Amino acid sequence: MCGIFGCICENAVEVLLDGLRRLEYRGYDSVGIALLNNNNILIRKDKGKLEDFLKNLDFESLSGSIGIGHTRWATHGAPSRENAHPHLDCFGRIAVVHNGVLENFLSLREELIERGHKFSSNTDSEIIAHLIEEFVKMGLSLKDALRETINIVKGSIACAIITTLEPGKIFCYRRESPLIVGISRNGTFCSSDMPAIIPYTKNIAIVPEDTIVVIERNGVYSESSSGIERKLEFFETNLDLKSAERGGYPHFMIKEIFEQPRAISDTIKIPEVYLDRASKLLRDRIYLTGSGTSYHACLSTSYMISKILSIEAFPIISSELQEMIPNFDESTLIAVSQSGETADTLNAIRYAKKKNAKIVGITNTLGSSITMLSDAYICTQSGPEIGVAATKTFVTQLIALDLLFLRFGLISRRLNQSDYNKILDEMKKLPKIVEKILNQHQKIKEISLKYSSKQNAFFLARGSNVAIALEGALKLKEISYIHAEGYPAGESKHGPIALVEPGFLCIFIAPKDRTREKIIGNIMEMKARGAEIFSIITEGDEELKEISDSYFEVPQCYELFYPILCTIPLQLFAYYAATFRGFDPDKPRNLAKSVTVI
Ligand code: M6R
Repeated sequence: MCGIFGCICENAVEVLLDGLRRLEYRGYDSVGIALLNNNNILIRKDKGKLEDFLKNLDFESLSGSIGIGHTRWATHGAPSRENAHPHLDCFGRIAVVHNGVLENFLSLREELIERGHKFSSNTDSEIIAHLIEEFVKMGLSLKDALRETINIVKGSIACAIITTLEPGKIFCYRRESPLIVGISRNGTFCSSDMPAIIPYTKNIAIVPEDTIVVIERNGVYSESSSGIERKLEFFETNLDLKSAERGGYPHFMIKEIFEQPRAISDTIKIPEVYLDRASKLLRDRIYLTGSGTSYHACLSTSYMISKILSIEAFPIISSELQEMIPNFDESTLIAVSQSGETADTLNAIRYAKKKNAKIVGITNTLGSSITMLSDAYICTQSGPEIGVAATKTFVTQLIALDLLFLRFGLISRRLNQSDYNKILDEMKKLPKIVEKILNQHQKIKEISLKYSSKQNAFFLARGSNVAIALEGALKLKEISYIHAEGYPAGESKHGPIALVEPGFLCIFIAPKDRTREKIIGNIMEMKARGAEIFSIITEGDEELKEISDSYFEVPQCYELFYPILCTIPLQLFAYYAATFRGFDPDKPRNLAKSVTVI
């Protein structure tokens, strides 16, 4: 997730920088601007935060009334000056900023290099500038060249382009990544999100999917990718700046929960080359490590590995790893951390490296310490997560780990091509299914209200859903301060059940998978002691509805993906419980987003 912004107005430099400041929540590892000035393109860009960029900016040498800018959250190519946007074509006549993930960029890049193009970065985005250059060479206008480009490039795109070939215009396109435009007497604007535009105009339009937009000083023209005019629908937004920064949501946590369909969809598109590079490092013994929520992703995946590939994998909490594993000969350590900076996880990696492990990192932060310490890494595509409670980064960790092990299964012939394709097809349905669950947030809100005054809760499950029980309990306790414990349901009778008395809340994760029959037995044990039962079940499971006091239905899906689906209502449950109890879910007490102490 990155932020793009463009403007045609007086003082474009100040407006661009102001806009980028308001988009920094979308990414902040690099920043850059391009301005049209006397039919030249001036570029200033660098690694790091906007604050540092401003300190070194030579304001005197910059002026113009047309510009584009970018604030980056690295996906392809580590944070560096070269990889920062805007990117140029070979002649410096076309400048591009892009937000999204281009799936087929490697093959297109190779073709372009064969045709003599010189690339300056490792990003996927740079190919847009070079492809447009190719089509312009053939005699096409910029708009037509853009159309040809987007028809070849696969993946998500929101881009803004300025060019010396047709000055006075900003060319934009949107597919899957967000884009809005705004217009007023003071200027015309395009942006990934409202906060950058609202200070200048409240008259905005959401650019529909698959639309090319050409912005000029006094107006906007738009058409579909097949060239048919498509008028934008402008409206007056009533959002104020503060709520616009959270996309209109009251908290970042709920915004991030609702971003999950997009985050999952982008993560599914991780190019195979990254998965192959990492799977080649998997050896006979596989350990997975992480802390907090990231450990839960490890735990859930270890069940998946044994189920689908029939091999053992060992999940270990990062802070305990040194105490448990004396050597890593013939072993691979998969280290999972959204921030890539958690001290316990980095320590575990350093220790395992010394003991001969190969390291595969899974992180949401390209350029973080984990990417430096790993032999190969995979980046989840969540975009920055601001709420302290991990939500979208957890489900994308599960997706990335599933992708890695499916790919490994295929390469090592533990999985045949047709099963591999079948599972991937099922995975591609997840964004829509998750959206369906999110549309029922009202139902989970009511359930959360019903239980928000409880002092204690058990989260119980079997199999790979045990990790989800632990995650549900962690989410609830860390933001609502309700005492919550996750357990394997079968284990609860070996002690925890002593706490159960009439009204004690037991939350069961009970989808229609191989664990369902046994879970019913566990529910009955708790019911017999007067527990209040809230179950997460598969749509239409009448028997479970019957024995539960409250239930939330998730759609039927391929068994492997129930942990992902069952996570969503539990995130919402915790979020609403925190708000009903009057706590700010974005800033839980005693916690930090990145825990850099041991
Ligand atoms: O950045 P990491 O994924 O390494 O962070 C690990 C934990 O600190 C983190 O998941 C923590 O448990 C979250 N607050 C959970 O919501």
